[in-house]
Amino acid sequence: MTKDPHIMHIPMNDLKREYALLQNEIDDGLSDVLRSGRYIGGDMVEGFEKSWADYLRAPYVISCANGTDALLIALMALSLEPGDEVIMPSYGYIAAAESAVLLGLKPVLVDVGVDYNIDVSLIEDAITDRTKVILPIHLFGLCADMQTIMAIAKKHQLYVIEDAAQASGGVVTIDGKPRKAGTVGTIGCFSHFPTKNLGCFGDGGSICCSDDDLVAKMKRIKRHGQTTKYIHEELGINSRLDAIQAAILKVKLVYLDQHNDRRRKVAKIYTDTINNEKLKVPDFIEDHTYHQYAIRVSVKERSAVKDLLQQNGIATTTYYPKAISDQEAMSDKAIVHSDTRSKELALSNLCLPMSPTMTDEEITYICDVINDKL
Ligand SMILES: Cc1ncc(COP(=O)(O)O)c(C=O)c1O
Repeated sequence: MTKDPHIMHIPMNDLKREYALLQNEIDDGLSDVLRSGRYIGGDMVEGFEKSWADYLRAPYVISCANGTDALLIALMALSLEPGDEVIMPSYGYIAAAESAVLLGLKPVLVDVGVDYNIDVSLIEDAITDRTKVILPIHLFGLCADMQTIMAIAKKHQLYVIEDAAQASGGVVTIDGKPRKAGTVGTIGCFSHFPTKNLGCFGDGGSICCSDDDLVAKMKRIKRHGQTTKYIHEELGINSRLDAIQAAILKVKLVYLDQHNDRRRKVAKIYTDTINNEKLKVPDFIEDHTYHQYAIRVSVKERSAVKDLLQQNGIATTTYYPKAISDQEAMSDKAIVHSDTRSKELALSNLCLPMSPTMTDEEITYICDVINDKL
């Protein structure tokens, strides 16, 4: 079959293009690691932790194997009891709820707002005497309302774990001052999965925390609970960021702000240009890092819209097709406080291509197809 020359082929994100952009620096970093013979831990991993902590303006970053481990380690560090409750949104990626269940904790699923983040007006109603943690997910790169969440946490003496997996480089205003996503709560968790805003070329994760005791505990937990070599006073897991991934992240961190700016530019063009009554584009938000750009389409139209975009070479993805409360894995494991909007979003969400390497021509093409062909 010959390709229609009028059709551009645009994936959700183009990792090969991102690599090509930074190839020389990344190759140099990789070669340093390969020649060093130090593939686990060592200067490269410590160097990335230090650079990421400096960027976040945080005292410590602990690297780990992936974003799910980051959440697991954070929850393990808080010395919670089985049955303790963790309030989190009923829409988003399942990793937080799954980690809580695996530790014998109860996720309490609270509905989200139209911005896909936990609806803070519902949180206090979900608090019981078993509640120990509020765990917002900064979905699609937009921080949850951390000012309100921190005030509720303070009032009820709760920990806050930020799932900042999708929000690397995001900013949230607290008491009038800008703070980086993941640095406001008791512990912040990041994923460096390749497609994330700060992604490596495999799995990777990190944890940000400013409490010395918790940091020491999480460092032990990620090394099998080891205090000194081969001495294990508590149970832990094995969760390491490879030196090779650290080398890539060190290079990509330098470009994080620039890449997030480009994501915002792409989002602004989408929001300003797309005009089609079959779908609803989100308002443009300056502090958003646009890990994803999510539009909403009516349930009836979604699959036709997706197909037509596909026929025109434009990839789309639904993040996520089910509310967390509707996932079979969660049945009987979570307490569902509220999930009406979560269910609605699961049926209407459609994400458009989003990456820092998209060209203006590609963005214009997508807007034209949506405006003229749908
Ligand atoms: C919101 C959120 N939390 C946690 C994770 C888990 O991260 P990882 O895939 O690195 O384990 C992801 C990754 O997809 C995520 O999007």
